Amino acid sequence: MAKRSRIVGCGSYLPANAVSNKDLEARVDTSDEWIVQRTGIRSRHVAAEGELTSDLALAAARAALNHAGMDAASIDCIVLATTTPDNTFPSTATKVQAGLGLTRGFALDVQAVCAGFVYALSVADSFIRTGQATRALVIGAETFSRLLDWNDRTTCVLFGDGAGAVVLEAAEGKGDASDRALLSTHLHSDGRYYDLLYVDGGASSTMTTGHVRMHGQEIFRHAVTKLSEVVEEALVANGLEPSDIDWLVPHQANQRIIDGIARKLKLPSSKVVLTVDRHGNTSAASIPLALAEAVHDGRVKRGDLILMEAIGGGLTWGSALVRW
Ligand code: ACO
Repeated sequence: MAKRSRIVGCGSYLPANAVSNKDLEARVDTSDEWIVQRTGIRSRHVAAEGELTSDLALAAARAALNHAGMDAASIDCIVLATTTPDNTFPSTATKVQAGLGLTRGFALDVQAVCAGFVYALSVADSFIRTGQATRALVIGAETFSRLLDWNDRTTCVLFGDGAGAVVLEAAEGKGDASDRALLSTHLHSDGRYYDLLYVDGGASSTMTTGHVRMHGQEIFRHAVTKLSEVVEEALVANGLEPSDIDWLVPHQANQRIIDGIARKLKLPSSKVVLTVDRHGNTSAASIPLALAEAVHDGRVKRGDLILMEAIGGGLTWGSALVRW
């Protein structure tokens, strides 16, 4: 028998305010047509003034606990992936911990930008498999709108705010790909590409928060090759074929990147969970938001094989395979 982590619940939260491409036409020199053609994005949600990453995270965490039918008191670990913490320190995870009324266990943030949720899953899975935790909340939450230069049309049209969460629970399995569990995670980074996608501020460098800066075409090129490699790595490690995948739940940055990966895997679009059209790129929140949507609308069934993949600033990238 092998100790593994099983996802026993998921939930999400989106701020009420939806901003359409038409709305953005009034702010910068752009068009609905350009944005849809290049990215597939039609709308995104933007947090209200005073609505913080921890508020979004807490709402998603409560939804995930509710779906799992669990009391917050049974959680002994919170791993929160975010690029937009409430404050530079303490971690936003500790605020969520207090918000849930928890005084035991431990909570920490993970920073891997758009790959953050896959990284956080991997971290929480390691805590569970080594016996340091038994029930973990894994959250991706972002108020990415706060990092945007709203005068820069090359970036401000791409991102949105939101949060998603899953509950992971320790489970026994056979240790093979038939287990209903998180089967594997594969993580990578390459800091040589630090400047391809970054924020031009920080506590240590400028003592300001800064704004997102990006070399879009370079990121696009790396995304398709690196994501294809890390997906292949996950399938080989588990003795699985692309045809075994029931659902691709990718990071939602750009529909063209997602289509490229699906094509390489020969997956029909009916097996791809797509939210980028309505959410934009919500960074660490995009995968759990998409997962929660596909689970709650009944698409994902017990025993289905789910492939998640993401790439973000760093560069950081990774994949996770889950048997639901
Ligand atoms: N509206 C209208 N025109 C625009 C806009 C806009 N919002 N943004 C850029 N343009 C213009 C440019 O100024 C340029 O004009 P020019 O030819 O007169 O100089 C023209 O459109 C083409 O610009 P490119 O940057 O070459 O456009 P491209 O086809 O590469 O699309 C995009 C840009 C969508 C950013 C693309 O490169 C991309 O998707 N890259 C991946 C980046 C990404 O997804 N980042 C998200 C974060 S990382 C992650 O999550 C994976």
